Amino acid sequence: MQGQLDMEGALTARDRVGIQDFVLLDETTEAAFLSNLKKRFSKDLIYTYIGTLLVSVNPYKELDIYNKKQMEVYMGVNFFELPPHIYALADNAYQTMLTEYNNHFILISGESGAGKTEASKKILQYYAVTCPSTTLLNTVRDKMLMSNPVLEAFGNAKTLKNDNSSRFGKYMDIQFDSQGDAVGGHILNYLLEKSRVVHQNHGERNFHIFYQLVEGGEDDLLHELGLEKDAQHYNYLTQGECAIVSSINDRNDWKTVKNALQIINIDEINTNHLFGIVASVLHLGNVQFDSDSKGHALLNNNTELRWVSNLLGVDAQSLQEGLTYRKIEARTDQVLSPFTIDHAIYARDALAKAIYGQTFTWLVNRINESMENKDPSRKTVIGLLDIYGFEVFYVNSFEQFCINYCNEKLQQLFIQLTLKAEQEEYEAEDIEWEPVQFFNNKIICDLVEERHRGIISILDEECLRPGDATDLTFLERLEDKMGNHPHFVTHKLADKMTRKTLERGDFRLLHYAGEVTYCVVGFLDKNNDLLYRNIKDLICQSKNAIVRECFATVDPDSRRRPETVATQFKSSLLKLTEILMAKEAWYIRCLKSNESKQPGQFDEALIRHQVKYLGLMEHLRVRRAGFAYRRKYDVFLKRYKPLCPATWPHWRGVPADGVEVLVQHLGYLPYEYKMGRTKIFIRHPRTLYATEDAYEKCKHELATRLQAKYKGYRAKGEFRKQKEAATKIETCWRGVQARKEREKRAWAVKVIKKFIKGYMTRGQAKCTDNSEYLAFVRQNYLNRLKNTLPKTVLDKTTWQSPPAVLTETSELLRKLHYRLMVRKYVRGITPQRKAQFQLKLLTSSIFKGKKESYPQSVAQPFVDTRISEQDINIRVLQMIRNEHIKYSIPVIKYDRKGFKPRPRQLILTQTAAYVIEEAKIKQRVLYTSLKGISVSNLTDSIIVFHITCEDPKQKGDLVMQCDHLFEFLTKLCVIANKQNAVKVVQGSIKIEIQAGKESAVDFTTGQEPMVYKAKNGHLMVVATRARTR
Ligand SMILES: Nc1ncnc2c1ncn2[C@@H]1O[C@H](COP(=O)(O)OP(=O)(O)O)[C@@H](O)[C@H]1O
Ligand SMILES: [Mg+2]
Repeated sequence: MQGQLDMEGALTARDRVGIQDFVLLDETTEAAFLSNLKKRFSKDLIYTYIGTLLVSVNPYKELDIYNKKQMEVYMGVNFFELPPHIYALADNAYQTMLTEYNNHFILISGESGAGKTEASKKILQYYAVTCPSTTLLNTVRDKMLMSNPVLEAFGNAKTLKNDNSSRFGKYMDIQFDSQGDAVGGHILNYLLEKSRVVHQNHGERNFHIFYQLVEGGEDDLLHELGLEKDAQHYNYLTQGECAIVSSINDRNDWKTVKNALQIINIDEINTNHLFGIVASVLHLGNVQFDSDSKGHALLNNNTELRWVSNLLGVDAQSLQEGLTYRKIEARTDQVLSPFTIDHAIYARDALAKAIYGQTFTWLVNRINESMENKDPSRKTVIGLLDIYGFEVFYVNSFEQFCINYCNEKLQQLFIQLTLKAEQEEYEAEDIEWEPVQFFNNKIICDLVEERHRGIISILDEECLRPGDATDLTFLERLEDKMGNHPHFVTHKLADKMTRKTLERGDFRLLHYAGEVTYCVVGFLDKNNDLLYRNIKDLICQSKNAIVRECFATVDPDSRRRPETVATQFKSSLLKLTEILMAKEAWYIRCLKSNESKQPGQFDEALIRHQVKYLGLMEHLRVRRAGFAYRRKYDVFLKRYKPLCPATWPHWRGVPADGVEVLVQHLGYLPYEYKMGRTKIFIRHPRTLYATEDAYEKCKHELATRLQAKYKGYRAKGEFRKQKEAATKIETCWRGVQARKEREKRAWAVKVIKKFIKGYMTRGQAKCTDNSEYLAFVRQNYLNRLKNTLPKTVLDKTTWQSPPAVLTETSELLRKLHYRLMVRKYVRGITPQRKAQFQLKLLTSSIFKGKKESYPQSVAQPFVDTRISEQDINIRVLQMIRNEHIKYSIPVIKYDRKGFKPRPRQLILTQTAAYVIEEAKIKQRVLYTSLKGISVSNLTDSIIVFHITCEDPKQKGDLVMQCDHLFEFLTKLCVIANKQNAVKVVQGSIKIEIQAGKESAVDFTTGQEPMVYKAKNGHLMVVATRARTR
């Protein structure tokens, strides 16, 4: 699973400082490895991956990469997408746990001072900050976080390797519920280095808590505990001669610890008991013995002892006895055997170690209680293993032996899970595989722990052996048994060269991480870890609740020897291995950059050594040797399928076949990859680089294409939506229209039906069936009529013929309309025109239907006169100046004798008509003497004036021709009031030429109009026929 994660991100990040993942190194030499590590370290890049394994180099300085912002950056982000970081690993483990719902552990290894404890704290902080939280969970989280300062105060100390060296092993399970909330925790602790309580090497300190209490403790408290505010005052604190260290602020730490104790629910009473124990240890350290003459140890009224008895709540006398006498039980009797001073010191130290060691365990239990999650539903866990690292001192004792054995076991576990498991995967996947050689430290583990034959067994045997077994006899036994072992040397067994480096009391183990020479002194005692019986009994009755609780578990009557320390440790490590094997592993390999704890120093030799013994090169080689990368077929296909037309966008077949097609298309050579059962294995990083590069390039093109597609898709979608909307609106609209149309039709049908019914019954009297129709007919007629009314009075033909019902109305309307038009017309005519009409009317009354030429004349308007006054001779005007001239017209006068035509002017005045020739008045006809006027019925224009003629001298009737006959005669009739004087005659008009002398004017019709004197002496007038219009 881890293999799957490692390729893409590593590829994208490969151009940063050095290489982020050693797997991507071009060569897997140690030199290349170190050079990359150094390059990155110089830029403060302390983390580098080997696949999913995190290599961390201790920078010995604060780096600004552990803040909340950084945590957020790494939250939920794919492992390799960001620069290597412990948060990435923590997050990856967490995410995997959530998705796969299984248990994990993070194995943090490295030698003392390499940064394991810091790493585990960073991880815990990461979870505390980034996991989902509630108030309730926050308190659990606070407890988990605050358990650290407490355990560090009691279990860490300054050593030569590390100012804050863990002197106990710690495995902590963080429990998560299915939502990923951190809901509880549990700690397992391993073998505290108790010897430190009573003894420290030069340059080292006791556990921090002692210094914190003495330096930071409040005056009242110190007073209560009988302590001086001075570390130098206490034997147990000054052996290393470095009670005060600049890198450690005991006072501040004291405050932190006190606060932390509250948070992990340790109440005030217990807190007091706890400090009482710490103080009692300090007092114990100051208990000095005198000796009597026989060399027996004496304790006389010792104040320190009283403080101890006081603080532990035990009887002072008994305590004194316990520290100076040994109780020997012989049958029924108990005999007290006095101690030598050495024995007494031993008993004192044993007591100090015992109460401190038990108290530490008590603390861990308390912390576990306070972090315990009581909800029974299933939890998944992430275990954090931070255990003391491999260490080598000038003098190495039983503790180093245990610690280094522990590291061998962890290395063994690592080998099992990585180097072996990795190679087994190839087998499982059916991949041809050339096994990578690695140093398997099983041989060393066996050397230490093998039943009956291992060092621990021999040690136990020596411890149990009756008789005077000593550390040296133990050494001899070892030499006997281990004589030929390649990883075991003693002074006696060594060759000359090696012998020089070994003391007689030493044995040397060739550990995976290097040689360590152990001094056997103290091995038996430390392994036995015995407390004298009488002291143990005494402590069981302690009034200090913590002490009583701690020792109550020990059955005082049990005669069975308790298991030795080494054996206990061995079984606890076995249990730990089982715990870890059941979980999925994540590794952090911590490297120490230099021995002097200096920032910026990259001690190449030191680091090369660590790289070597941690098996990092082998790990890397296994990772790469065969195949730098592997990927499940489907996952590989999913990522790279755009690179081959056959697999893009979808591969329909089996993923393995798809991958085969894909890599063929990419031109992978046969040796560059292998097809496993479920995965493809790619041998060289560069093969994948090429693929990844191609993918990067293709991704951009793809992105553009996808973008275009997507935009198109979006636009299409939008368009479709709009179209749908349009259609919908259209449909609605059409519906509305259709409904309207239907209503209209229904209405129309009704109307038409009604119309037809109305039409059919139109003749009947008004009833419901026809009333509307008739109304329609009426209205329709009236409308039509309105638009077609005749425009003039003369138009007698235009009139809409009415429907039957309206005949009468129509007639009334017609009349009304004509009257209206007439009225309008009449109103519109001028007085002149009116006068004219009156004249015309008169003319009509005289001539209409009588004279043939009359009809043509009607249209010709009458004028006022036909001769203007200027055209009348002035003399004539003078002659008739007394009479007003009413009308003048030129005429042709026919002589009475020969009917010769003579043009004359005829002037009508008020009283007479004058015939004028130039300046002469030829004839004056008084109206009174004008007895008649005759005209023919034909078209001619001859007028005859019949004049009363009594006097023969007087001229007779006047015969004239006048072009404007009707006008002239009408005017004359009006002026002379002779309307009835005009006669229209047929055939002939008799005339009186002179008094008594008659003649006639005969009228006839002909082709040409003519006037001549006929043979009969009459005037013959030929008129044409009037053209009928
Ligand atoms: N990531 C880190 N950043 C800064 N300093 C560190 C880091 N890791 C370790 N150190 C320094 O190294 C010291 C030893 O680290 P520690 O974790 O106690 O070592 P170990 O537990 O492996 O013995 C710390 O006290 C601290 O000063
Ligand atoms: Mg540590």
